[in-house]
Amino acid sequence: MNYKDYIALVPDWPKEGIQFKDITPLMDHGPAFKSAVDDIVAYAKDKDIDVIVGPEARGFIVGCPVAYALGIGFAPVRKEGKLPREVIRVEYGLEYGKDILTMHKDAIKPGQRVLIVDDLLATGGTMDASIRLVEQLGGVVAGLAFLVELTYLDGRSKLKGYDVLTLMEY
Ligand code: PRP
Repeated sequence: MNYKDYIALVPDWPKEGIQFKDITPLMDHGPAFKSAVDDIVAYAKDKDIDVIVGPEARGFIVGCPVAYALGIGFAPVRKEGKLPREVIRVEYGLEYGKDILTMHKDAIKPGQRVLIVDDLLATGGTMDASIRLVEQLGGVVAGLAFLVELTYLDGRSKLKGYDVLTLMEY
C-alpha cells in the first residue's frame, strides 16, 4: 500500500514555511489505517515487547491500536500538567518550540521492553525525550516506530543505536 496517498500536505501550517504532513486522511481510511498499524505490529512481533509508549497526541492514535493488537498495555507520554499522579519530566526541543514531557513514575517497570510509537519523526526531539523518560524508569527501548519520517530534519541522528521503523519518508 502506498501510504503517501493518504497524507495531506498542508503548506504554511502551523507556521509559514512549514509543510505540515496531515495523517488524518490515513486515519480516516479503514484499510490504510489498519495496514499501517499491522505493519508496526509485525515489526514488534519478534521484539518481545511488554508495553507500548506513545507521546501525545498523535502518538496515542497510532500507539493504542498497536498495543491492543499485541494484547499489551499502553503508557502515555504527556505534556506537563496533564498526568494526575507522580511524574518524571524532561525538557525537549520541538520542530517549532520547546516544551516539557512527563510520564507517570509507575508507568514502566524496570526491565520492561518498550516500543515507542509516534506518527512523525521530525527533529527527533519528542522521541529523544520519550526515550529518556522510558530509560529513567528502567525500561529497555527495544524499538521506535513512526508512520512518517522527515529525513531532511535528520531526527535519526538523535536516535543512534536504536532500532527504527518508518513507513514513509519525505
Ligand atoms: C508532533 C508529532 C511528533 C512530534 C515530531 O507532535 O506528532 O510527536 O511533533 O516532532 P519532533 O521530531 O521535531 O519532536 P506535537 O508536539 O505537535 O504534538 P501533538 O501531537 O499533540 O499535536
